[in-house]
Parts: sequence; structure tokens; C-alpha cells
Amino acid sequence: MPQTVRGVIARSKGAPVELTDIVIPDPGPGEVVVAIAACGVCHTDLTYREGGINDEFPFLLGHEAAGTVESVGEGVEEVQPGDYVVLNWRAVCGQCRACKRGRPQYCFSTFNASQKMTLTDGTELTPALGIGAFADKTLVHAGQCTKVDPAADPAVAGLLGCGVMAGLGAAVNTGAVGRGDSVAVIGCGGVGDAAIAGARLAGANKIIAVDRDAKKLEWAVELGATHTVNATETDVVEAVQSLTGGFGADVVIDAVGRPETWKQAFYARDLAGTVVLVGVPTPEMRLEMPLLDFFSRGGALKSSWYGDCLPERDFPVLIDLYLQGRLPLEKFVSERIGLDGVEKAFHTMHAGEVLRSVVVW
Ligand SMILES: NC(=O)c1ccc[n+]([C@@H]2O[C@H](COP(=O)([O-])OP(=O)(O)OC[C@H]3O[C@@H](n4cnc5c(N)ncnc54)[C@H](O)[C@@H]3O)[C@@H](O)[C@H]2O)c1
Ligand SMILES: [Zn+2]
Ligand SMILES: [Zn+2]
Repeated sequence: MPQTVRGVIARSKGAPVELTDIVIPDPGPGEVVVAIAACGVCHTDLTYREGGINDEFPFLLGHEAAGTVESVGEGVEEVQPGDYVVLNWRAVCGQCRACKRGRPQYCFSTFNASQKMTLTDGTELTPALGIGAFADKTLVHAGQCTKVDPAADPAVAGLLGCGVMAGLGAAVNTGAVGRGDSVAVIGCGGVGDAAIAGARLAGANKIIAVDRDAKKLEWAVELGATHTVNATETDVVEAVQSLTGGFGADVVIDAVGRPETWKQAFYARDLAGTVVLVGVPTPEMRLEMPLLDFFSRGGALKSSWYGDCLPERDFPVLIDLYLQGRLPLEKFVSERIGLDGVEKAFHTMHAGEVLRSVVVW
């Protein structure tokens, strides 16, 4: 029997989000219904609401979530009712050209539920990143559920589902930060701070946090930054160079995603170093630079989608490290709110007052 539960939707561009009744179908083949226990508020939810992703309104928002599998459809073997899972937006297909070449972290054809969740009048909802977890329950593909240790607080575990994994993976997977590397991270929100935590985990010996907000820099130090640069007070490139013997950092991560921060990342890096772009630019942004600089400085210029993660490989390990006290993921949870607090949380996020607001049940 389809069930009616509460969900947070964005009905039209820019309008405040609404808490309303939504209908969840029974899981079909390959599908799973998950009872949500916690879901973080990510910038991308706001971008959906503002029409910045596509026009497929109404959206069912929320995608950084953990919960318990309630029921499974035909043929589902990966999970069963009662399993504690973190939801992901990279259910690898195994069949596309990226998967076939052994690069599943780029999978171009990831799985989502094929049935639609709807409003009570039958209007089909578009779930954010194929998840839609600002809801008592949601319908996803079985591959979007990754089992992790149930001892982990869901408010913490759910964050791996997007921003924290994106930042951590930008350092560890995309940037391939290793022991003894120097790393600079521009933009110390949830994503940048996760990159800092990842760089520490990987053994970087110098981790330079760059932000315009002094409070953010304090939090970055708690996550593992060894040095801070306030971008409102100093020239970022010169500051990073002077902290790295005049050379620049081995890996510079742009967790803002603007032309000026990317340029800083490019020039704040040592010769043959790596730039990782994990912040998401907007369509109108442009970059103009001497082509010769690209040639003469060498190295790697990369973008990081979802931290090049593989949920089945990465989530359980990161949860274990967190439970062992080796990865302070709890520091990303700035406040716990109710399902009716999402709109307010967008404002709190915009004002830079939190790393993550997390809806808890
Ligand atoms: N690549 C991915 O897979 C992926 C996944 C999730 C989020 N993201 C993106 O990562 C970015 C960061 O997300 P977040 O949740 O950390 O956002 P956030 O708004 O919490 O943090 C951004 C930080 O950058 C700082 N900042 C802004 N402009 C700056 C500048 N010019 N110089 C230095 N610091 C500056 C802000 O003070 C803030 O601390 C966003 O663009 C988001 O869309 C990417
Ligand atoms: Zn694939
Ligand atoms: Zn997100």
C-alpha cells in the first residue's frame, strides 16, 4: 500500500519551501523504502529551490541522509528491512563506458528509483539528487543504500552522503594527498573543512586553511588546519607561498568555485602541483589567463565530483574511523533542527553561521 508521509518540497523557483504530505509507493523491483533518521541541509538543496539545477519542479529536497531500510522490492539482495544505511547519489551501474573501463567513480549512468513519489493530488516529485530525504520516508534504488555501523549517530553518518564525502574525497581521492604533502584549502565551509580533515587523515604535514571569515578559520583549525590565511587581510597566493618555503602548496583545493578563488588555487600551488576544483561554479562564470602559465607551471588541474568516492568502499571505512575517534565528523553538525526548520536553515547557511544544520527525527 502506498503511504502518505511528510516531506519538504520546493514548489516553484525561489518560493519558500513547504512541509506537506507526499505519497511513497511500495518499492518496485530494485527499489527500497528508507525511514529517514537524519538529513543534513546542503547548499545544493538551496540551488534546487532557486532553479539553479533544472526546472523540474516540484522538488522533494534533502539528500545527506541516514536511516533504516523499511521495505525492499523484488530482487533486492544488497539490503534488507532493518539495515542501517547512508544514502548516496552514486549507485554505480557497472555497464556504462566509465564503469567498463574500471573507473566506476565516474559512472555516467547511476541508478535511482524508477517509480515516482508524488503529492497527494498525483503531481510527480523530483527528488534532489535522486534521493529526497527531507521526508519521513523516501524511495530510492537499492544501490543508493550503503550499510554502515549502526553505532554511528545518524546526524553524523548522513553527512557522508554528500558534502563531507565531496570535500574529504577531493583531498584524498582526487588530489591524492599523501604523507608529507603541503595542502591549501580555499573556502572552509562544510566541504572545505572536510577536505582539511581528509588531508590530515592522509598525513599532510602542512594544511593551510583560507577563508574570508575568521570564525570559519577557527573551525578549520579544529578540523586539522595547521595554518590559517584570512583572505580579507592578506594576498592569498603570497601567504600560501610564504608558508611553504616560497614555493606554493603541493595540492590546492578550491572549495568555493569562483574564478578568483580558482586563480588563487592555480598560482598558490608549487610547480607541477595539483589544483582540485570541488566548489561548483555558476554558468556565467568565466576565466581568462595566459595559456603559457598552464604550460610552464605544469601539474594537474582536476575537478572532483562527489570526491571521486565509491560509497560501498568509502562510507563504511570513514564511519569506522569516526567511531574510533580518528575522524571528528561530529564537528560538522552545528545544529539539529526539525523537519519544519529547513527554510530557516537556508538563511542560517547563507549567513555562514553553521557548517551543517541537520534535520533529525
Ligand atoms: N563537487 C561536489 O561533488 C560537491 C558536493 C557538494 C557541494 N559542493 C560545492 O562545494 C562548495 C562549498 O560548499 P559548502 O557547503 O562548504 O559551502 P559553504 O557556503 O558552507 O562554504 C563556503 C565557504 O567559502 C568561504 N568563501 C566564500 N568566498 C570566498 C573567497 N572569495 N575566498 C575565501 N573563502 C571564501 C565562505 O566564507 C565559506 O566559509 C559549494 O559550491 C557546493 O555547491 C560540491
Ligand atoms: Zn556506470
Ligand atoms: Zn549536497
